[in-house]
Amino acid sequence: MDKPYSVADILAAKGRAQPLVCLTAYDQIMARLADQVADLVLVGDSLAMVAYGQASTLPVTLDIMIAHGRSVVAACRKALVVVDLPFGSYQASPAQAFDSAARVLKETGAAAVKLEGGQVMAETVEFLTARGIPVLGHIGLQPQSVNSIGGYRYQGRDAAAAAQLLADAKALAAAGAFGLVVEAVAEGVARAITQAVAIPTIGIGASVACDGQILVSEDLLGWQGGRAPRFVKRYADLNSLAATALQAFAADVRARTFPSAEQVYGLEDGAESKSSDSPAIYGQITQDDGQDNGGSGAKIGSKVSQLRPKRG
Ligand code: KIV
Repeated sequence: MDKPYSVADILAAKGRAQPLVCLTAYDQIMARLADQVADLVLVGDSLAMVAYGQASTLPVTLDIMIAHGRSVVAACRKALVVVDLPFGSYQASPAQAFDSAARVLKETGAAAVKLEGGQVMAETVEFLTARGIPVLGHIGLQPQSVNSIGGYRYQGRDAAAAAQLLADAKALAAAGAFGLVVEAVAEGVARAITQAVAIPTIGIGASVACDGQILVSEDLLGWQGGRAPRFVKRYADLNSLAATALQAFAADVRARTFPSAEQVYGLEDGAESKSSDSPAIYGQITQDDGQDNGGSGAKIGSKVSQLRPKRG
């Protein structure tokens, strides 16, 4: 498709045979890769744990989410970019949520925000959507509530909890959310939710009954190493691959086999006679940059202006 995905495109995917493909990204390298295959790219607050090594998603700030959101938006050409509202930036009131969400949209260029919470957040979702801010809901396991729920356990385990999840989904859909992330719930509950709402459900640990799937990209790529949640399928082991590459670099450095001739700058023909004056290279760079570093640097620069780095 030529134009970027819109919220309307995501909504139109409801009930289609082909599920929505959604991935997380926190920076432009992952965003460029995700954009090639995904309909929706989420700048998830999971970055607190994955990128910043925190024990939960709670410490991440709105400013950090905005900085990463900007980087991801700049890299995406096709996918709809959604940015998570972090803990404490929206729960206090609809007005607080609007201020945070408006900053996200203005400062990142993202198309929508995601927030956690069911019925209790319906009023806020309505407030935002009525004011031009598309919202992706998030029910089931809500990592921002880890301190109240006592761990990252799957949700909707008994009939009462399942009924509450269904009520949460309906309330968010009625409030205008354009989709729902459904995290860590049993297949039967995910199916009931998906059938009950007219907006797409995006499952993470919620079975193929959902209208789409999302995973943390670093999890499916095996980028983090260590144990992953049960619902993650590892499609690669990039952590081992990277560790092997870094070990090879360290061994080369210690053996003085890196850098080799291919990675080293040389001198242009006829410049050999001046090669003993190695600091001149910096003078040359200074001169090429158009900056006058004054004193000896400038003098050295003009003295060896014929020196040029050798290109690959
Ligand atoms: O923060 C995040 O990455 C998420 C996804 C796991 C859905 O909320």
